[in-house]
Amino acid sequence: MNETLKTILTRRSIRKYKDEQIKEEELQAILEAGRFAPSGLGKQSAYFTVVQNKEMLQKINEVCKNAYIKSGDKHFEALGKSENFSAYHNAPTFIIVSGDNKALSHINDGSVTLGNMLLAAESLGIGSCWIHSLIIVFPTEEGKSLKKELGIPDNYNFVGAIALGYKNMKQPSPAPRKEGTINIIR
Ligand SMILES: Cc1cc2nc3c(=O)[nH]c(=O)nc-3n(C[C@H](O)[C@H](O)[C@H](O)COP(=O)(O)O)c2cc1C
Repeated sequence: MNETLKTILTRRSIRKYKDEQIKEEELQAILEAGRFAPSGLGKQSAYFTVVQNKEMLQKINEVCKNAYIKSGDKHFEALGKSENFSAYHNAPTFIIVSGDNKALSHINDGSVTLGNMLLAAESLGIGSCWIHSLIIVFPTEEGKSLKKELGIPDNYNFVGAIALGYKNMKQPSPAPRKEGTINIIR
């Protein structure tokens, strides 16, 4: 099996990270993998916000925590109230991907961008996890001002985010794959 296929099969969501920051060249390689993802009509609609500043990371977590507690959803409420809550599992790097809402396929463009970055991280031995919490945060008043503070342009919608850092846990095993999801018509 080639290295690309091995990376695809071995990547898992990592939820425990070392405090140590990833190297600048590793960050740049992961961003490059995102920037080279395909996009509808070649519009390259994805916008990357990289957060490594500890105060900003804490602020994002506070806003997520409040939004979870006020969400009206029992699952999110319990998560928000949990001790040591971290929306991004205390990772030292957090990348938010937004999409230009003028591009029809910006959600798809951003999603494939995130996929590329998850695989690039794994190929470099770096842990990653897709983090979706901001989807319920940005529509709130607190979320809107956070979006401004992060410098995300008004016409860009949140697509997804990833936590990145050196792994501080064993690689989890994959869940068994669902059967009956492939129909090959020959
Ligand atoms: C759209 C999407 C949203 C996700 N949101 C979160 C999240 O907010 N927090 C988290 O810890 N994991 C999140 N995940 C990771 C999934 O839980 C994970 O991919 C899934 O359980 C399969 O595990 P694996 O990635 O190890 O194969 C998300 C994944 C996707 C694709």
